[in-house]
Amino acid sequence: MSGRELPRVVVMASGNGSNFESIVMASKEGQLNAEVELLIVDKDCYALKRAERLGVEHLKLGKPWKERLKETLRKLQPDLIVLAGFMRILPADIVMEWRWKVVNIHPSLLPAFPGKDAIKQAYDYGVKVTGITIHLVDEGVDTGPVVFQKALEVKQNWDLERLEQEIHRLEHENYPKVINDLLHREWRLEGRKFVWI
Ligand code: GRF
Repeated sequence: MSGRELPRVVVMASGNGSNFESIVMASKEGQLNAEVELLIVDKDCYALKRAERLGVEHLKLGKPWKERLKETLRKLQPDLIVLAGFMRILPADIVMEWRWKVVNIHPSLLPAFPGKDAIKQAYDYGVKVTGITIHLVDEGVDTGPVVFQKALEVKQNWDLERLEQEIHRLEHENYPKVINDLLHREWRLEGRKFVWI
């Protein structure tokens, strides 16, 4: 990357794409100093519609999806691969090839409630505090080094829908900022502990 070029990110999604949109808007509005070069999805989903509306190039992975993904990433050489509701587990060889260049957002305070439906898991458990986690991706499911967490108090009168809204609001507020930091600040790992320098 030469001095004047913006870092390039690829976003991967499978569903609604609200985080994808918040990342694109942050890049358009200058809070995220990066170009969202491509949205990759694994199936038809609302995120594709958002990409069309926002004028972001998009790609639906054909079969075999792992090979298509590998080729696409090798061709683009993005500075960061941003998972935003991508509902498949990245194959270990891709994780290895792109070691610490893949970031994910998870809607709970990991290691509590990993996997699917984390907001509902936390709600049904009756926790009084939950939140969001942004982490680097390793070979496990929601196990990589934690970059950022934000806690949220669950108010007694909130239903599941309200909790979902509040979690998504936190995600949209913070994911673009953390992506910007990952692209523009120095960091290192001390064991599995992520440290800004
Ligand atoms: C978010 O809650 C994110 O934490 C999780 O999947 C959801 C994606 O939502 N990994 P959206 O597609 O960005 O609206």
